[in-house]
Amino acid sequence: MRMIRLKIDGKIVLAPEGTTILNAALKAGIHIPHLCYMQMDDIGYKNNCASCRVCVVEVKGMNRLLPSCTTPIVEGMEVVTNSLQVMQKRRMVVELMLSDHPKDCLICGKNGECELQKLAISFGLREMRFEGKEAVHDMQHSISITRDITKCIMCRRCETMCGDIQTCGILTGIDRGFNVVVNTAFNRNLIETDCTFCGQCVAVCPVGALYETDNSFKLSRDLINPNKKVIVQVAPAVRVAIGELFGIPAGTNSTGKMVTALKKLGFDGVFDTNFAADITIMEEATELKHRLDDYLAGKQDVKLPLYTSCCPSWVRFAELNFPEILDNLSTTRSPQQIFGSLAKHVWAEKMGIDKKDLVCVSIMPCISKKYEASREEFTVEQNPDVDYSLTTRELGRILKQYNIDFNSLQESEFDSPMGKSTGAADIFGRTGGVMEAASRTLYEWATGTKLEDVDFIPMRGFEEVRVAEVKVGNEVLRLAVVHGLGAARKVVEKIKAGEENFHAVEVMACKGGCVGGGGQPYHHGNFDIVKTRAAAIQNIDYHKEIRTSHNNRYVIDLYRESLGKPYGVMTHKLFHTHYIDRKNK
Ligand code: FES
Repeated sequence: MRMIRLKIDGKIVLAPEGTTILNAALKAGIHIPHLCYMQMDDIGYKNNCASCRVCVVEVKGMNRLLPSCTTPIVEGMEVVTNSLQVMQKRRMVVELMLSDHPKDCLICGKNGECELQKLAISFGLREMRFEGKEAVHDMQHSISITRDITKCIMCRRCETMCGDIQTCGILTGIDRGFNVVVNTAFNRNLIETDCTFCGQCVAVCPVGALYETDNSFKLSRDLINPNKKVIVQVAPAVRVAIGELFGIPAGTNSTGKMVTALKKLGFDGVFDTNFAADITIMEEATELKHRLDDYLAGKQDVKLPLYTSCCPSWVRFAELNFPEILDNLSTTRSPQQIFGSLAKHVWAEKMGIDKKDLVCVSIMPCISKKYEASREEFTVEQNPDVDYSLTTRELGRILKQYNIDFNSLQESEFDSPMGKSTGAADIFGRTGGVMEAASRTLYEWATGTKLEDVDFIPMRGFEEVRVAEVKVGNEVLRLAVVHGLGAARKVVEKIKAGEENFHAVEVMACKGGCVGGGGQPYHHGNFDIVKTRAAAIQNIDYHKEIRTSHNNRYVIDLYRESLGKPYGVMTHKLFHTHYIDRKNK
């Protein structure tokens, strides 16, 4: 590749042809402030609509300032990033943005994390020079995502994520001039659109225009209610990210401190979603084995590939876009919902608790889990199995409200038995983990032999689609792992067209899997943070004594004492579900 030589702030810089001034500068360690621009090469995300003009620079020989995020470098170019003219222009751009932006920063959900606020601080803005009309839009609440589009700065990061990466196209720029805003078609509530609630728009929004619908008040209210027993389950991806909200490096395993923090909040039981993830594998691996047995016996119309169903955004995406594959989705509920069902319908009875008095809360890395918990098939006699779900960020905020000093906490363990899990459950938190966990169990069940090496390396990594061939007895299984809904769409279409053939496919809506979920601490476009969390999840698995779900002795006991066989009558009632054709409705 041809290298281009240029000068930035007097420093000689070499960068490949085609690089923008901004990227050449950032690579050379020269910071140019920017706002609308965001690029994550690992996942193919690039938002460079150049709408904000915060990144302007002077280029010798040009009679106007240029946006560095879209201007390619040329040989001999001389760039100045910090002249008085440049700094004044940037400052004015931010002042103009603020002139049409609500001034409620103190109570904004993004306060302290807002990229516009950070620019205003770093530019030393102390007063509003421009007063005038401000656009006003109604707040829009949905079960998972709240939109305060009065705060939208038209950076279009959400639109790029929703359209280009997730191929959902729910959010787009509408209207003209002063009224222009990123919105849904006809200003519909998200629940009335094909939104999957993946929350990746929230993950990239630089301001407080998009955030998770907050359930923290509900939780505080329930925790002080003497008539309620309040229990909590925590998903695997939360423990490797919650520390970031307290200054702990990304990827630190904070399980012990997190459990202590939850106990200090006053929960009556602190349990691990991982326990339910091990059950998910008992059910899903059995389901896959049944389908494979039927297929190998030559039965007609066996529904393969089997698609995983742990990710509620993927399930909703399939229901909205591909109703013809709904019979291929595993009927096994997600770990969140298996836990809820187990807690309300088995554990509560054992503990002598009336399920009407039991509040089952989940802490998830995911925004869509709020939606999943609200699906009517997971409610029995008007009592939801999971009452409500909070994100990792909401938990962090609550701990701060309750003055719990996370860093100084001692470590403690989840309550038993629903806190005991295997390494196979931990890896549910990263892309490829569900397929790998299922493969570990399926292999041992199908062959009757112990798997010497439980690490299925081809299923790991961050390529959009990964394929592993696993020899089980005489059969070679083709298993695929996909992350991102756009990638899922491509894979499903190839399978439908007969261009691809798999026995099973894992799909996670969020890039990186749950560690990159929309409810996790903001990564601000640094995908390395997501990768670091995934590595931490893997590390937890490596250090678990038991790494296969079917060898979790607490799960084995549960089946023996209460549930009967996996994929049996009782577990079908408790742990399986059905799907709805939402395309043709
Ligand atoms: Fe370059 Fe917005 S960051 S125009």
